[in-house]
This record gives sequence, C-alpha cells and structure tokens, in this order.
Amino acid sequence: MHRVIQLKECDRVWINVNLATFDPAMSHPYGSRHRCALGIHKGKIARIEPMSAVTATRLPYDVTDGHNGWLTPGLIDCHTHLVFGGHRAQEFELRLKGVPYEQIAAQGGGILATARATRVRSKEQLIKSTLPRLKALTAEGVTLVEIKSGYGLNLVDEIKMLEVAKELHNRHTIKIISTLLVASTLPPEFAGRTDEYVDMICQQLIPEVADKKLAEAVDIHCENAAFTMAHRDKIFQSAIDNGLPTKCHTEQFSENGGASLAAHMNALSCDHLQHISEQGIADMAESGSIAVLLPGSYYFMRCQTPPPVELLRHYQVPIALATDTNPGTSPLASIRMMMNMGCIFFQLTPAEALAGVTINAARALGIADHYGSLEEDKAADFCLWDIDHPNELAYQLGHCPLQQRVIDGQIIDT
Ligand code: NIG
Ligand code: FE
Repeated sequence: MHRVIQLKECDRVWINVNLATFDPAMSHPYGSRHRCALGIHKGKIARIEPMSAVTATRLPYDVTDGHNGWLTPGLIDCHTHLVFGGHRAQEFELRLKGVPYEQIAAQGGGILATARATRVRSKEQLIKSTLPRLKALTAEGVTLVEIKSGYGLNLVDEIKMLEVAKELHNRHTIKIISTLLVASTLPPEFAGRTDEYVDMICQQLIPEVADKKLAEAVDIHCENAAFTMAHRDKIFQSAIDNGLPTKCHTEQFSENGGASLAAHMNALSCDHLQHISEQGIADMAESGSIAVLLPGSYYFMRCQTPPPVELLRHYQVPIALATDTNPGTSPLASIRMMMNMGCIFFQLTPAEALAGVTINAARALGIADHYGSLEEDKAADFCLWDIDHPNELAYQLGHCPLQQRVIDGQIIDT
C-alpha cells in the first residue's frame, strides 16, 4: 500500500482545472471531473481533489492557476514513420495526375524511393530532418510518440533508424517508443529471394534489435503481396520468441486476414483496418488487440471505404487514432487534424477521438498502466488547454488552444 500524498506535499499543484481523465473506471465518455486541483509528486500524478476541499493553507509553494481551463492526458501519437530521408512531393504530383501509388511503387518509387534516401543519410542528417516533424507534434500537445523503422530494409539501416529514434528520445522534449517495422516491401537486392529475406529478418534483425533493446515492439506489415501468410506467421513467431510484443499494418487496401493472424498472436494492435472482416474484428476482441485507425492516409490516398467503426464498437474493440506520418501516404504531422478527420470521415464522436489519442493510444502501445489517463500514480504527462469543453479539440483546426505541456511533472513549453 502506498502512502496517500497530501496536496501540501506535492511538488506543484494545478488549481481551478477541469479534468478529462479518461479513467477507465468512470463511465462518462471523457471521465470528466469539474473544478479540481491536481497535484504532482516525483513526476507522477499524486493527488486529485475537488476545489471545494482546497484552501490556500493546504497548497504548496508552486501553484498554477488553470483559470477553469481543461487538463487532458498528454496526447499520444501511437503510429508514425517520422524518421526518413528525403520526401516524395514529386510522387504526390504524379498521383494528382492520375498515376496510381502501386504503379509508382512498381517502378522503384514509393517505399523503395524513401529507403534509398534513408540509407544514404547519416544519423545526424536523419535527426535533423525529423526534428521539425516532432516539433509539429509537440506544438499540439503530444507528449509521447511511437516511431517505426522500416525504411532501412536491411540490418544496418534498420538499426540506424532505431538508433536515431533513441537519440531523439534523449534529445527532445518528448517521449519516444520505437518499433521495428518489417516486411513492408522486398528490397531489390533480395529480388526473387523472399525466403532468404524473411530468414534475415527472423534470424538476424529481430534477435539483434531485441538484444540491443532498440525497439519495444515489432510491426509486421501484412499488405505487400511479396510476402505470404506463412512468411508473416514466421515473423510473428520470431518476435514472440525474442520477447517482443507485436502489431501490424493490415487490411488497408484489401481484406487479407492479417488482423486474425495478429490476434491469434496476441498482437497489441492492428492498424488501418479499412477492409477488416467481422471475423477479424471478433478475433481482435477476443485477443484484446486495439484498433488503430489512420485517417491521414485514408484522406491522402483518397480511400473510399472507411473502417467499420460501428462493428468495432459492437465488439467493444478499443479504437486509437494516429497520424501515420510518412512521406508517401500521410505526410501530415498533426494529431489534431487526425482527431477532426476521425470524426468527419469515420464518424467517431469527439470523445472517441480524444480517447483515441490518449488512453486507447496508450493501450495500443502496451503502456496504459502508466500513461493515457489522469489518475493518481500515473506519469504526470498532461496538457492544459484554454477551452470550454474537450469536444473543441476535435472540432476546430488552424489555431491551437494549448497552454501548457507537462512531462514527468515538468512544464515543458507551449
Ligand atoms: O510502411 N502506414 C503505412 N506506412 C507505409 C509508408 C508508406 C510509404 O512510405 O509510402 C508503409 O507501408
Ligand atoms: Fe504506417
């Protein structure tokens, strides 16, 4: 049993704040608590009390008056490809002229173009080009971001990408969780040798990444036809054998059964899901996998089939939302734009959109014990917003009502 910390003992207290707690124990969609004081101690949320119980003598020296604004958990972007070399604006122009993404990819563009640009860049160069994208996220209240590798496509460059993510975690004012992304495409040096490439992933890449603790999970891409279900199954098994949790890109452009495979492997999350079957959703519900929806790539690729949100609700599969920031299908580093698009394109409620970038994003990363909600004993990562109601965060774009971003109890910047 841990000792109850009084407000007076806290390192700092925020007073006159409304809380969108997303405490899973509360039935209200935002877990709202009005007119509260929230105290932090040693980087954690230590005490939440109604203002009616707070007197000046019960407060410590460091107090922030929230002036009746709202505190939310720090926003979490749980699916990004933020580290990459170059850009693909010229492919954007080609697509606008009607050239399909698949054709561009078949001619050596797409993921392979970004892989070439990523392989020739040093770690320092990749750090430099990633920082502005990270800043765009932090300016909107993101306190934790997942970054995938996947543009190295070989041992050396995948490891380089993951080391860049680790460096950024240490250098920038945001927490970073790294994921090894594999099997998004076959690199040209392995043309006609898919089995050997999969063996390289399973026998060298995954064990080395696990050994060096460079990633917290493995994302198995289940869209590219170069790989069979047997290949993917083997990769899932290798991740599990090496003690790494799994997730996947699946059912983005067609139904391919990846979600069911992932669910059978107890994957943390299945991401995209526009074409998932009811059986796939039932399998996810049974395994407790989270649905990560990515409205940015849906919009940017002009997709027509939204994910089956009503069925996800019916099966009570928790829904997370993320930017999927990448140079090809979602060059959009804005978490609030995703919340808005989640409502407009996928008919999520504003409360579901905010849950999607807080508690459910934390679940998709397997870190909900410490992140994603405002509860005593969780990390003191939160945002103070100048808003009347949390539904405003999904509603308006173009200016950001963020007042404070707090990480481990430290006020970082706005
Ligand atoms: O790795 N969510 C999808 N991400 C992509 C990136 C696509 C691209 O660079 O074109 C992927 O498949
Ligand atoms: Fe992605």
